[in-house]
Amino acid sequence: MNKGKRVGIVGAGNVGSTVAYSLAMLGSCHEIILRDNKIEIAKGKALDMSQAASAIRSHSVVSVAESMEELVDCDVVVVTAGSPRLPGMSRDDLLMTNANITKEVIQGIAKYSPNAIVIMVSNPLDAMTYVALRESGFDRSRVIGMAGILDSARMASFIQEKLGYGGGQIRASVMGGHGDDMVPLPRYSTVAGVPLSDLLTQDEIDEVVHRTRHGGAEIVSFLKTGSAYYAPGKSTAIMVEAILKDTKQIHPCAVCLDGEYGYHDVVSGVPVMLGANGAEKIIEVTLNEQEKQMFANSCNSVQTLIDTLNANNFFQGA
Ligand code: LAC
Repeated sequence: MNKGKRVGIVGAGNVGSTVAYSLAMLGSCHEIILRDNKIEIAKGKALDMSQAASAIRSHSVVSVAESMEELVDCDVVVVTAGSPRLPGMSRDDLLMTNANITKEVIQGIAKYSPNAIVIMVSNPLDAMTYVALRESGFDRSRVIGMAGILDSARMASFIQEKLGYGGGQIRASVMGGHGDDMVPLPRYSTVAGVPLSDLLTQDEIDEVVHRTRHGGAEIVSFLKTGSAYYAPGKSTAIMVEAILKDTKQIHPCAVCLDGEYGYHDVVSGVPVMLGANGAEKIIEVTLNEQEKQMFANSCNSVQTLIDTLNANNFFQGA
C-alpha cells in the first residue's frame, strides 16, 4: 500500500467512475479526486465510492475537484474527458471535439500537477495521447494511452469463448493503435503457454481477430447511448496500479515512438514496462513481414489523424 498517493480522474462519466471505483477497491492510493463539469453528480459518486471503500475497510478516499486548480500535485492523472462513441460513429469521428477538450484539460494538468504521469483514455485514443504529449510538454515516458490492455483482454475473452476452456490462463497480445486496424497477434497469444495455433483452426483464429478489432463497436451496438466502461475502467486501473506500485511489469500501452519499430513522432500501442516513472522502457517485439505490414497500416491511420490536426493548425502556439 502506497500511503499518500493521489490520483486525479478528469471526466467522471462511466469510464472515469469505473476507474475510480476500481482504484478505491484496490486500496493502492490514498486519495482519488474526480474532476467533472457535472459537479453535483461527481460529488454524489465520490461519496458513494468513499462509502464503498469504508465498507471494505480501505483507507482510500474519493473526493471532487470543483476546478482544475483543485487537482493539485497528483501522482497520476487519468483523462477520460470527451464525447463518447455513439452507434455508427468511429473513434475517429470524435477527433476535433475531443482534441479541443484534451488540450484544455492537459494545460490544467501541466499547471497544477506538473509531476503527474498522464494516462489518456479519451478517443480517438492514440491521437489524443499525441495531443496530450504535445500540449503538456512532458517527457513521452509520462504520457501513456490505455488501449492495449483492453484490446488484449477482449481477445483473451473471445479465445476463452471460442475454446470453452482456459479462462484465466490466456495471454493474448494486441499491438498497434486502438482502431479498426489494431494488430492482434495470434502468434504471440497462448493458453497456459500452448500456442493458439495448436488449439484453434486458422478460421477460428481469424474470427477471434476480427471480433477483437470490432470489440468496442460490438458493445456500442448493444448499449446504443455510449461505449464500454467496465473493461476500459479496469484496464486503466491496472496501469495506475502498476505505476503507483512501481511493479516494472510489461503491459501493452500507447506511447509516442521515437525510432522504435522504425517510427518517429507517432503514437501506437506497444509492450511497455510500467513503473514509478511511467513508461520506463519500450519493448521491441520481433514481427514477421505480415505483422509489420499490419503495424504499418495502423501507424499510418494514427498519422492521418495527426496530419488532420496539423492541417487545422491545432498545435499552433503549443
Ligand atoms: C472501446 C471504446 C471505448 O474500445 O474505444 O470500447
